[in-house]
Amino acid sequence: MEASCLNRIERTGTRPIRASVFLGLILMLPLGALSQTDARDPAAFQVQVWAASCMACHGPDGRAEGTGLAIGGRPAEELRSKLLGYKTGKLPATIMHQHAKGYSDQELARIADYFSSLK
Ligand code: HEC
Repeated sequence: MEASCLNRIERTGTRPIRASVFLGLILMLPLGALSQTDARDPAAFQVQVWAASCMACHGPDGRAEGTGLAIGGRPAEELRSKLLGYKTGKLPATIMHQHAKGYSDQELARIADYFSSLK
């Protein structure tokens, strides 16, 4: 009687542990995928992550057609100087001054190069 009671407690007691090991393995899958990209070229991956936040407004590949916000495929120097203009306050902006201030000048140059390369 006592032994079967213990047995039951042990059995039910291991279930949450097994479930969390299983969940942990599932959660590791996307992380594994990310770290693979990371291993190939971490710098390029970082720029893509930054650019993804811009695409919310500027469209996939920076091509928000019909909004006046298309930045994909434009000359890198033009994009870079606009971003620096927003950062320093030389260019008037409703939103972009806040975004631009979040990046160093070098990071803005890398983001400009990335959008320019999207043909
Ligand atoms: C919340 C929406 C939003 C996000 C996110 C955003 N932008 Fe903008 N962007 C704008 C708006 C609106 C303008 C027009 C200037 C203004 O009013 O701030 C603009 C203007 C620009 C311009 C100048 C375009 C032109 O033709 O003059 C560039 C370049 C630019 N953004 C790049 C970026 C980059 C790079 C990021 C990501 C780091 C980014 N934007 C994130 C909304 C956004």
